Amino acid sequence: MRNLLKSGLRRIVGNETTTAKPVRAKGQRNATVIAVAAQKGGVGKTTTSVNLASALARFHGKRVLLVDLDPQGHVNTAISNMVRVGGGCLSDALLSEGAMEVMDVATGTTLPGLDVTPIDNSLGHTEDLLGTRIGKEFVLRDALAVSRTWYDVVIIDCPPNLGNLTLNGLVAADQVLIPCDPSPLALSGVEKLVGAITQISSRLNPEIDVLGVLLTRVDGRNTTLNQAIVGQIEETWGDALLPVHIGINSSLAKAQHAGQDIFAFDADSRGASHYQDLAAHLAEQL
Ligand SMILES: Nc1ncnc2c1ncn2[C@@H]1O[C@H](COP(=O)(O)OP(=O)(O)OP(=O)(O)O)[C@@H](O)[C@H]1O
Ligand SMILES: [Mg+2]
Repeated sequence: MRNLLKSGLRRIVGNETTTAKPVRAKGQRNATVIAVAAQKGGVGKTTTSVNLASALARFHGKRVLLVDLDPQGHVNTAISNMVRVGGGCLSDALLSEGAMEVMDVATGTTLPGLDVTPIDNSLGHTEDLLGTRIGKEFVLRDALAVSRTWYDVVIIDCPPNLGNLTLNGLVAADQVLIPCDPSPLALSGVEKLVGAITQISSRLNPEIDVLGVLLTRVDGRNTTLNQAIVGQIEETWGDALLPVHIGINSSLAKAQHAGQDIFAFDADSRGASHYQDLAAHLAEQL
């Protein structure tokens, strides 16, 4: 049978829908893409993204791309003194219809092996624009197709909701890391997110898996309460709860004010030791 689209009809609708992806050199690697996601705000997504990324580059020799997918731009604030001038806007890569990749807009940092997407003030608007696109859930995944061949790990810091940007992060991901503080609200948020991941795995990304639930902001002084909550979480989440917990440590917040990762800011802090343990635990699985 005749194919009207192939035989010329496509030309009539113009360039925007027919742009071919440029041929690009591929690297030798095949990154594991980790989305750091949680619906609840303030549970440590960004702190985890930044310090896990830097620990994997610093102590495990990984080439890491850190994607700041949250319009709040907190990744860039958190390591503002490490990000080199340069790069472009993630929005440009997301809206380019295949003409640009995430690696085209990323920039380096003072830490060898760690690259990051720079601050992007238009990301909120981009999320709205993506809403009107066909195949809107696959835009980030496609924009990482070649980029991931140049890295060992891609870490995506997602916004605190289940909007189009987070959806793109989850569809692009091989693994989802779910930070959760020991509070009932955070726990019910984890349940909703796991529900969404299950739907994504059956409809959009069969490869997706949960890397684990990471307990954050654990108050080391309140051991009785901790044990009760951790016991409850273990019962609910079983093996999904990671064996490494992140304690409350003011150095983690101070490091972000100083624009540095925790290892550059205070290598002897508890926060540094906990994130180093997390990276060591995950590096074995990557
Ligand atoms: N383990 C910790 N101990 C002490 N403070 C922490 C810890 N983890 C995160 N914080 C602080 O808590 C605040 C929220 O953390 P963070 O920005 O990482 O959360 P988030 O989940 O990314 O938030 P959002 O949902 O707004 O993106 C920050 O000020 C951060 O410095
Ligand atoms: Mg954040």
